[in-house]
Amino acid sequence: MRASWLTDTHLNFLRPLALKAFYDKLAAERPDAVLLTGDIAESDTVARVLDEIAQHTGAAVYFVLGNHDYYRSSIRTVREEVGRIKCATWLQHAPPVQIAPNTKMIGVDGWGDARCGDLDSKIKLSDWKLIDDFRKLGADAAARIEMLQRLGANEARALRDRLSHVGTTPELLVLTHVPPFPEACIYDGEQSGPPWLPWFTCISTGEVLRAYAAEHPQTKITVLCGHSHGIGTFQAAPNLVVRTGGWPRGVEGYGNPVVQETLELA
Ligand SMILES: [Fe+2]
Ligand SMILES: [Fe+2]
Repeated sequence: MRASWLTDTHLNFLRPLALKAFYDKLAAERPDAVLLTGDIAESDTVARVLDEIAQHTGAAVYFVLGNHDYYRSSIRTVREEVGRIKCATWLQHAPPVQIAPNTKMIGVDGWGDARCGDLDSKIKLSDWKLIDDFRKLGADAAARIEMLQRLGANEARALRDRLSHVGTTPELLVLTHVPPFPEACIYDGEQSGPPWLPWFTCISTGEVLRAYAAEHPQTKITVLCGHSHGIGTFQAAPNLVVRTGGWPRGVEGYGNPVVQETLELA
């Protein structure tokens, strides 16, 4: 089973010819499945590009959403629209997928849940202006932190539910957008600093994953994530590895999507 992993493709930045060239590059990997770990595009383009990826590759497409996928809309509206997509499977609402004979796969979107790093951080995300839910809060930083923590807790609940349906499996693949541990927030080869960490880590999902890994030592868990736009690997437990995808050196910048890797799943 060949599964091509994409993350943070931000395909809304591509003009038609560049988009076609990217789809050609993806199809050349001959994937049986395409796995997208969020920031696929923006609210008005995400459904269309998922359809195009499915059409162009003929592969089964599985995805979770990232914060940018809500841009210029609200969380509720996008989730309702994406929930109706037929050409691809949104793992947030899907039972575990037997993606290969020895590998099951689940996913949740995740949110930077303001539970680590510097909560007085002066770093402002575009999210605060471009996602309706945050824009309505204006400059109220305390309300924003409260909302992020609530969103993170919801993701943890969803993840716990998905995990409760996994059953026995030698290998488990978990797709999520936001790195579940600070050590997995990588940019330019380095761990992101305290001002970035509140917005770049989902502590709530990390707690759930660590507990599950400890309770299931026989299951090898691989988490694929993105969001911080750097490439790295973090071994969170003997049976829990987190792979963060991002821009390779020299390809830094929006509008330059890459195929992160084509995995051979057993
Ligand atoms: Fe991104
Ligand atoms: Fe993101």
